Amino acid sequence: MQPSPQVSAQPLRLLHFSDTHLYDQAEGRLLGMRTRHSFEAVLESALARSPADALLITGDLAHDEAAGGYRLLRDRLEQTGLPCYCVAGNHDHWPLAREILGHFAPPSGSIAPLGAWRLALLDSSLPGKVRGHLAPHRLDALGSWLKTNRAPTLVCLHHHPIAVGSAWIDNLGVDNGEALIALCADHPQVRAILFGHVHQAFAQRIGQLELLAAPATSVQFLNQSHSFAVDTRPPGYRELLLHADGRIETRVVRLTDYPEHPDLEAGGY
Ligand SMILES: [Fe+2]
Repeated sequence: MQPSPQVSAQPLRLLHFSDTHLYDQAEGRLLGMRTRHSFEAVLESALARSPADALLITGDLAHDEAAGGYRLLRDRLEQTGLPCYCVAGNHDHWPLAREILGHFAPPSGSIAPLGAWRLALLDSSLPGKVRGHLAPHRLDALGSWLKTNRAPTLVCLHHHPIAVGSAWIDNLGVDNGEALIALCADHPQVRAILFGHVHQAFAQRIGQLELLAAPATSVQFLNQSHSFAVDTRPPGYRELLLHADGRIETRVVRLTDYPEHPDLEAGGY
């Protein structure tokens, strides 16, 4: 059972992390960056700024499908004492992740309460594929739930449901993202879709619906790049202030003076 945040007039502070890409080995590197170190630095910085009410991690929790990264993540999430929710990414071994993370990794389709808000947690991963897909029965179940539940809602998944302007990764989003966006746009209580996978900050509005990506806590990808390219921006996260009336204030926060940089010559990952 996860702790439940207090209901109050103050907005809830949700910290959205993504693409931690943790390795079994403590010094494991993704494109030259030690991802355990960058994750711990981002988490520590985020929690030190002001009290948080909950954490969300939108996938690619581990890079190598091994237990060590998930164990580290579980230990760090337990230390926060906060409600924490993880969804599956294309790099994850989800049965192993769920076995180790327990209640931090609820089943796909779970609805997590967060004060007046709800988080709808979806698994968009496809075994053996980099791109994503949402099973039609999951979309149908979300649609049925939204018909009778009017609380302001955040839909959370790993893959991007909309093009972010980088051709190489726009081929690797959730391949039925239009259906998800149409469903959410039809239900105005869905205030935002939150995702990762693109390793860059992204924000776009369609009507009243916000589409928001968190940067990776690990390596950043260059935005608006036709082909694969690494960015020099430091790791970070997205902060969301969730007001009880359904308003969202959000910003991206990055580490300053982070000493380690990715290999800019990398041609892929
Ligand atoms: Fe990733």
